[in-house]
Amino acid sequence: MTKKVMLDVDTGVDDALGILLAVKSRQFDILGITTVNGNVSLDTATLNTCKILELLKIDDEISIIKGANKPLKRQSFFEHRIHGQDGLGGALLDMKVTKKPATGFAADVIIEKILQYPDEITLIMTGPLTNLALALEKSPEIVHKVKEVIFMGGVLKGGGNVTPTSEYNMYVDPEAAKLVLHAGIPELTLVGLDVTRLALLMKKHIQQLKDPSLASYVKKSTADYFERYYERNGVEGCALHDPLAIGVALDKKIVTTERYFVDVETRSELCDGQTVCDFQHRLEKKPNVNVCLEVDSEAFLNLFIENLNS
Ligand code: BDR
Ligand code: CA
Repeated sequence: MTKKVMLDVDTGVDDALGILLAVKSRQFDILGITTVNGNVSLDTATLNTCKILELLKIDDEISIIKGANKPLKRQSFFEHRIHGQDGLGGALLDMKVTKKPATGFAADVIIEKILQYPDEITLIMTGPLTNLALALEKSPEIVHKVKEVIFMGGVLKGGGNVTPTSEYNMYVDPEAAKLVLHAGIPELTLVGLDVTRLALLMKKHIQQLKDPSLASYVKKSTADYFERYYERNGVEGCALHDPLAIGVALDKKIVTTERYFVDVETRSELCDGQTVCDFQHRLEKKPNVNVCLEVDSEAFLNLFIENLNS
């Protein structure tokens, strides 16, 4: 049986690869893709999402709904350095786009779908958590009606990727992340840099892609991302952050998780957006998150390549 999901994206090179994986897997009934301000502006993230569905030639089947055009309380903070000015590494600059976003506002559509299909929907969030936070503020009852929320964000043991302590999605809208973490969502899974940094796409993987137009898109869109990753980490590859969140929704066995209490810093000069995991239960708070601690990188990369080749 296909799983009902909604994706929330700030498309972004790796969000786009996540969408490709989600669609190509054919394991999901995708009830909508909501967009959010993040790596690029809301309008650019929305346009990029339209482009990816056109690339897949499924532009009529899945609705794209625009969401928040800024974080709850802060200014936007774009990540052009990694994703390029256009957000897709310049890969689809000349594409003629006919797909248009649907009417409606992301937070409202998230609420509407969850109420329409109680206990059935998995939300997979791969951008700042602004849209979900707005939905929870407006309709707190969705907490007990959503089946599961999987989000790419945070880092629990290592350093950040935007500040020394903080991962990008948490840093951009820490107030939204706090709201989500404290909402009481029974199944909330954090896919952080601890595991996504191990899910490395390498040149040899791109060579395994069979569809020439998809292979050329992946190669082009990740070219600058590869370079930035090498400059920063000395590794010839790039982390499939967002696709791993999709991978977890496809197959939980590729990660190991444990439940802990996790919170996010919102009032610090140096550490805003830092996710703090209480591994030793010092705060004596009820665990609120399934934290991904390990990943079978090979199994995930196989799943990624196989599905893109399907
Ligand atoms: C996250 O930040 C964004 O730049 C990526 O799209 C991903 O969602 C990784 O920290
Ligand atoms: Ca993203």
